[in-house]
Amino acid sequence: MPYIIETNNLTKKYGSLYALRDLDLKLEEGNILGYLGPNGSGKTTTIKLVLGLITPTYGKINIFNKDSSKNFEEIHKDLAYVASEPAFWSNLTAKETLYFFSKFKDNYDKDYQDKLIKRFDLDVNKKIRQYSRGNKQKIAIISALARRSKLIIMDEPSTGLDPIMEQVFRESIFEAKNNGQTIFLSSHLLEEVEAICDQIAILKKGRMIEFGNLEDLKHLNQTRFEVYFKDKKPNLLKIKDVINVKQDKNKMTFQVVGSTNAVLSEILKFNPSRIYSKPTSLEDLFLSVYKNTK
Ligand SMILES: Nc1ncnc2c1ncn2[C@@H]1O[C@H](COP(=O)(O)OP(=O)(O)OP(=O)(O)O)[C@@H](O)[C@H]1O
Ligand SMILES: [Mg+2]
Repeated sequence: MPYIIETNNLTKKYGSLYALRDLDLKLEEGNILGYLGPNGSGKTTTIKLVLGLITPTYGKINIFNKDSSKNFEEIHKDLAYVASEPAFWSNLTAKETLYFFSKFKDNYDKDYQDKLIKRFDLDVNKKIRQYSRGNKQKIAIISALARRSKLIIMDEPSTGLDPIMEQVFRESIFEAKNNGQTIFLSSHLLEEVEAICDQIAILKKGRMIEFGNLEDLKHLNQTRFEVYFKDKKPNLLKIKDVINVKQDKNKMTFQVVGSTNAVLSEILKFNPSRIYSKPTSLEDLFLSVYKNTK
């Protein structure tokens, strides 16, 4: 399987600060990569390096099996990009903006663009300065998807989208994947990443501390429980992968790493009056990952 993006020791320093350090990343063709990390961890730096907007301090980037420092124009013919804060000309309408960007691509798919405009429920006749953040984001997403390029790089594209549009976004990303395209998606939304990504990379202070598919990262896959009992409570400490057990009168809270089957069958023996469970949030997951890495 050829790699669409492959980096070796990719590093960017600003003075003494490592914005990105020794990144070895391999993104396979047709995959969706979720690129996660807290503020300032190096996501946008990686994207700017891959796009050739900044030069590495050292390290290599191959895109489509070509050295990106030498094949900039060729690579960009088949690459689309959604910036984290898209900047457009405030006096143009969305329609004019989309038309302008369409001219940078030979096989721009105008029919697909119009389908996406309907799907994202975008009124294209307003001037850019009149659009909300989410609507500007939609213009950038539609423009990138209608390029139908081999590689799409998106920097937190769905931050301004409402929940309905978030669903439309996910459908459209799946459509691109089914069309054979490869997607690099930087995101803060673990739920989104879980729903659509094949591979996940997690950055911390410029270093990639986790990389793999969801199964590989299942130690990150935790469920948070809150359970109420009428009288006796179970001893959950004896069950493997149950952590952070806290008890308070008739209530127990805890987290389960991976499968919840064992813990549920133990709880049910004690006749619980109520069980609440939800996946841990991205922040919880980050905390658990970060505790185990320096
Ligand atoms: N031009 C620059 N000059 C100096 N430091 C920079 C520059 N650009 C980025 N940095 C620093 O590099 C580090 C990584 O920044 P980056 O923008 O890549 O983070 P990020 O993961 O995209 O964060 P966010 O989630 O907030 O978008 C940060 O410490 C940032 O302050
Ligand atoms: Mg960023």
